[in-house]
Amino acid sequence: MKKKYALAALGLAGVLALAGCGGGGAGAAGGGEKASGDKGDLLIGVSMPTQTSERWIADGEAVQDGLEEAGYQVELQYAGDDIPTQGQQIDQMITKGADLLIIAAIDGTALSSQLDAAAAANIPVISYDRLIRDSENVDFYVTFDNYKVGVQQATSLLVGLGVLDQDGKDTGEKGPFNIELFAGSLDDNNAHFFWQGAMDTLQPYIDEGVLTVPSGQTDIEQAAILRWQQETAQKRMEDLLTSTYGRGTKLDGVLSPYDGISRGIITALQGTGGLGATIADGLPIVTGQDAEIGSIALIDQGVQFASIFKDTRKLAEQSVVVAEDMLEGEEPEANDTETYDNGVKVVPSYLLQSDIVYKDNITSLLVDSGYWTQAEVDSGVAE
Ligand code: BGC
Repeated sequence: MKKKYALAALGLAGVLALAGCGGGGAGAAGGGEKASGDKGDLLIGVSMPTQTSERWIADGEAVQDGLEEAGYQVELQYAGDDIPTQGQQIDQMITKGADLLIIAAIDGTALSSQLDAAAAANIPVISYDRLIRDSENVDFYVTFDNYKVGVQQATSLLVGLGVLDQDGKDTGEKGPFNIELFAGSLDDNNAHFFWQGAMDTLQPYIDEGVLTVPSGQTDIEQAAILRWQQETAQKRMEDLLTSTYGRGTKLDGVLSPYDGISRGIITALQGTGGLGATIADGLPIVTGQDAEIGSIALIDQGVQFASIFKDTRKLAEQSVVVAEDMLEGEEPEANDTETYDNGVKVVPSYLLQSDIVYKDNITSLLVDSGYWTQAEVDSGVAE
């Protein structure tokens, strides 16, 4: 790996020549200067999955801004959650002479041929937020502690049900509570970490009878929502209400791994379920993730119970630090070299921490840090 970074530092013109693709993209702008290591001649390709979720728009913009401020050229692409589109966009970045790639994959297993091409051209690859699997050619992974995110999601559900207090201490409340479980997209490695963290936290309470899953759907395959789609989640929740909650069985809580999914679930609960408009009216506890503004407003209004705040500004910043290290021939700092086995190798990783957002810490976590303004929290719309 070091060798690859050293090559990058040597001068990308040389690397491009070695790879037989000199003269493309950034290289065309000034092949000569490139050899002298002028950052402005280096092109970084940033591939993001979709613009349908706020977080990826914020991630893309923050990575782009950070890299441009550091002096690099950036090509940012969103793939509309379409796997072939993402493959083509990355292929094009490589053809254009990208010097480094930062990729948040749609399907973590679908990019092997692009990564082979990147490796052949000595282009380092940073896996962003989601681990790229089944490839030797992932050089580094920047993400959050995804297992812990799952623990936090389950913790927030238990807090909402009153089984734990907000400090995470057992209250002695025994329920029993009826819950249903939702997971993310199975082709996203993170979905498995969130699920594992959540289930490890909930299982003891299920075993004890404090929690019950009346539908019996306790496998990730049954709970998964392809591409994390809100509409798919709404449909699954409606189906669960019809199949399981028709005759006096009360639903108390729903584990949801992402705010878009949470809003789909809430729509189903308020509509077909007729389960009240707010938690105070009897709406079940629904968890979430990403601190999307639509969900933060719902938390503020007592509709959704919690979310998980992952400060994407920090993730973007970390990816810029790693990219710079790699391009300067330094080994980037990892704080986890054990957890993220992508099926071929353990990818050195830098993990950031996340926080649970409840109604009473929206201000301290999100408004005071400038993530959302109070006006945005009030309106539920990003300005
Ligand atoms: C991310 C989550 C996000 C989800 C859906 C996951 O890979 O880690 O933050 O909620 O994708 O976009």
